[in-house]
Amino acid sequence: MTREHWGSKLGFILAAAGSAVGLGNVWKFPYLVGQNGGAVFVITYLVLALTIGAALILAELALGRAAQKDPVGTFANLRGGAWSLAGYLGVLSGFLVLTFYSVIGGWTLAYVVKMVDGSLMETGLDLTGTFNGFVSNSVEPLIYHALFMLMTVLVVLRGIGSGIERCNKFLMPALFLILVFLAVRAVTLDGAAAGVDFYLRPDFSKFSGDTLVAALSQAFFSLSIGLGILITYGSYLDRSQNIQRSTLWIIVLDTGVGIFAGLIIMPAVFAFGIEPGAGPGLTFITLPGIFQQITGGVLFGTAFFVLLLFAALTSSVSLLEVPVAYLMDELQLSRKTAVLVLGGVAFLIGIPSSLSFGVMSDMTLFGMGFMDLLDYLTTKLMIPAGGMAVCIFAGWIVWPRMQTEVSNDGTLAFPLSTIWGWVLKVVAPASIAMIMVYGFLH
Ligand code: PHE
Repeated sequence: MTREHWGSKLGFILAAAGSAVGLGNVWKFPYLVGQNGGAVFVITYLVLALTIGAALILAELALGRAAQKDPVGTFANLRGGAWSLAGYLGVLSGFLVLTFYSVIGGWTLAYVVKMVDGSLMETGLDLTGTFNGFVSNSVEPLIYHALFMLMTVLVVLRGIGSGIERCNKFLMPALFLILVFLAVRAVTLDGAAAGVDFYLRPDFSKFSGDTLVAALSQAFFSLSIGLGILITYGSYLDRSQNIQRSTLWIIVLDTGVGIFAGLIIMPAVFAFGIEPGAGPGLTFITLPGIFQQITGGVLFGTAFFVLLLFAALTSSVSLLEVPVAYLMDELQLSRKTAVLVLGGVAFLIGIPSSLSFGVMSDMTLFGMGFMDLLDYLTTKLMIPAGGMAVCIFAGWIVWPRMQTEVSNDGTLAFPLSTIWGWVLKVVAPASIAMIMVYGFLH
């Protein structure tokens, strides 16, 4: 069977950016900026994304394109032996993240519905109580989790070109439009200027080791590095694409969406006199409160949660594609069987994650509920370990092959080759070791 490839350059870039742009950009990036000194954090983030982030994206794309295989097959083909384990690590972490990402994706779908049917817009509604009541319910969030997983499954079932690529070609431009539409509304609210100022004016006194670590782990999660997604997406590329340029595009689009999301949230928060460091509750609790108070709130609120839903969906699609590619390439299953089995099992494993906000909230291990535990295991341990494996493998084990790959067999100049080598060989592994140790201590 010949391997499916992306239909166009733009299609691939939008799909890769679609994976990167997710809940991490719209929900997490803005409050991290708020908590970590505004522009100082943005600059730190950009520097890390453009060095360590770029080195890893380029390495993952080069590995996948060189091998034309899923992550397990990629490590096995290019070297084999114990290195195949690094591929398994990627496949497993992609799958595990999918199980709980879909639960949160379900929440965003539920909030679209609640916006449209008006139930979030009743005056005097206790929004904190509404949110807590919703997530702690045993049935309703599971229905939305099932629906969200079903949407993901339906896209991935149709394959690379007519499934993943087509969905991203529609959803990503739609997402950019909604983003601009909402940002224009937010920055023209009375009193918005203070928010823009707080968001973007650098407060250098807030810079510390914590900022660095927060920015680096956010860069990993936000750019979808370290779980074999870009290896998998890269394996559907041929040599006509300039992956140096693709890398830059992925970073620019991902960071741009994060910054824009902050330009929606911070001015609105300031205009309504709310604490900007509000953190995780900001999206589902604070923002609906603001939508209640502005004219046309239903429209803006619906647009916002649709934006969040699209961002989540294009990411979950990429998460499912990684284990699907593994089952197809290594175990010769058909796409249909692979997608249905994995989607079904991921749904089941997501159930305790959802219930960990309600009936299972007392069942904890190391003081964490089921979803928190999976989140910790993947984002703090498995993803950094996967990233570390990619750096060492690409930088030390198959370095010559990487050089021919990024230069398209020597036909394309790559002026940054030496720097790339140093970042992969030394700087990135050392930084990753630092976030892992820091993660243990906190
Ligand atoms: N990058 C996505 C986000 O910012 C999350 C994600 C992580 C998606 C890892 C896929 C893989 O939300």
